Amino acid sequence: MAHAVNPWVALAYLVAGVCFILALRGLSSPATSVRGNRYGMAGMAIAVGTTLLTHVPGERLRMAVCPIYGDCAHGAFVIDWINVGEIVAAIAVGAVIGLVTARRIAMTAMPQLVAAFHSLVGLAAVLVGVAAYLNPEAFGILSSVGKMSAFAASAAPEINPVSRIELGLGVAIGAITFSGSVIAFLKLNGNMGGKPILLPGRHVINLATLAAILGLIGWFTQDQSAWVFWTIVILSFAIGFLLIVPIGGADMPVVVSMLNSYSGWAAAAMGFTLHNTAMIITGALVGSSGAILSYIMCRAMNRSFISVIAGGFGAVADTGGEAKEQRPWKRGSAEDAAFLLGQAEQVIIVPGYGMAVSQAQHILREMTDTLKKAGVRVKYAIHPVAGRMPGHMNVLLAEANVPYEDVFELEDINAEFAQTDIAFVIGANDVTNPAAKTDKTSPIYGMPVLDVERAKTVLFIKRSMGGVGYAGVDNDVFYMDNTMMLLGDAKKMTEEIVKALA
Ligand code: TAP
Repeated sequence: MAHAVNPWVALAYLVAGVCFILALRGLSSPATSVRGNRYGMAGMAIAVGTTLLTHVPGERLRMAVCPIYGDCAHGAFVIDWINVGEIVAAIAVGAVIGLVTARRIAMTAMPQLVAAFHSLVGLAAVLVGVAAYLNPEAFGILSSVGKMSAFAASAAPEINPVSRIELGLGVAIGAITFSGSVIAFLKLNGNMGGKPILLPGRHVINLATLAAILGLIGWFTQDQSAWVFWTIVILSFAIGFLLIVPIGGADMPVVVSMLNSYSGWAAAAMGFTLHNTAMIITGALVGSSGAILSYIMCRAMNRSFISVIAGGFGAVADTGGEAKEQRPWKRGSAEDAAFLLGQAEQVIIVPGYGMAVSQAQHILREMTDTLKKAGVRVKYAIHPVAGRMPGHMNVLLAEANVPYEDVFELEDINAEFAQTDIAFVIGANDVTNPAAKTDKTSPIYGMPVLDVERAKTVLFIKRSMGGVGYAGVDNDVFYMDNTMMLLGDAKKMTEEIVKALA
């Protein structure tokens, strides 16, 4: 079917595309993120509205098909009538689920929610691909031979070769995104251990599977048999699983942004199948921004981009860490901490996941205000993957009105720990672990960390000595002479410190 693009539709999709670009720009900083979200919503409303208008009523399709077949009576069975009521109902159900989930979800559970949403994008791409494969005439992807054979009951309608490539790539990327995201969800949600699962010969298996998928997509252009199509789908589900299982705890942030990128490319490929420019533009924007974010995060984590994409290349086998030796450590009280903080000239606060869990950011800012009034210099040090999502700590500190000028990125503040009286670690663990610098067998080896151990004194808030960080490894800082462990919930402990400071 020839697709003459209505200039108004093209313009509307262009406006939607510009809104999405402005949305991405806005989301790059907490200060402009609300505006960015609004641009995104406006762009999506324009894109969905335009798509609905161009397909309602189904007459447009009917008119396009009838001249080809020369008999309008046949048009009725090749066309899927577009039912506005069903579409609106589906949008309403999706909107209610999205709204309720977004309102209920704890911020610390964001990564698993994002992974779950990515899995839906992947699954949608696979389902669209399957529908297009089973009913190509409804999607306007028949070859000229196929158009003739569509009416010959004996012959399967032939899909044009370019559409077959788009279909093959779309279902493959969609299936990889789906199974990869399900595994990422299970790992992030704690249903599956966060430690890498390293299958023997995994690189050979992965490369062979990827080569087979690409080979079959090539084959599919010549032979659209069901076995070729379904083998592509099954192998792609398998490789999504194989690529994500070997990725361990501390590298999960990169995986989530990489799956985000894959979901964008899956949507873009389906945009070609559906002849929908808005989907192509949006998919490409999500795909490329996700790829850029993954690259930035790989650099921040000192990981090779290729290694992570290839699925745990270079991941080290888990060395256990279960048999923890009993080492001496010092416990302090809130009063001890308040005394030390009151004596300090400079304090650097290192927030982490535990601060987010206990929502200690507001009381932490109160503590900072009290210390500043007493003449203590206070700064915040933010690790790029502290917490459970990119920018997690920045968002929480901004919510508590911590001034931006007090907040420093790792590379801007790390050198200052050596001249600092107190490193105040609140609910962080992996991002302070010196094993990342020295222990080649550690799963976090190579990741840049905050050098808290160089401060004169380290105050470390966590609930118990047994609890480990996300990567599941012990932290030598707990046992150093200059460390005082403050065991308890981050918010409660900080409240007690504030009381003791008064
Ligand atoms: P973690 O290494 O996960 O350590 C969190 C610490 O907080 C633990 O020591 C835990 O010990 C403590 N804690 C938990 N709840 C607490 C509470 N209510 N009060 C006080 N302490 C509490 O956190 P991190 O240092 O922020 O590192 C982040 C980790 O998550 C990295 O490995 C990173 O790769 C991974 N990750 C990051 C992201 C992104 S994008 N940021 C996404 C997924 C994974 P107790 O249990 O003993 O209290």
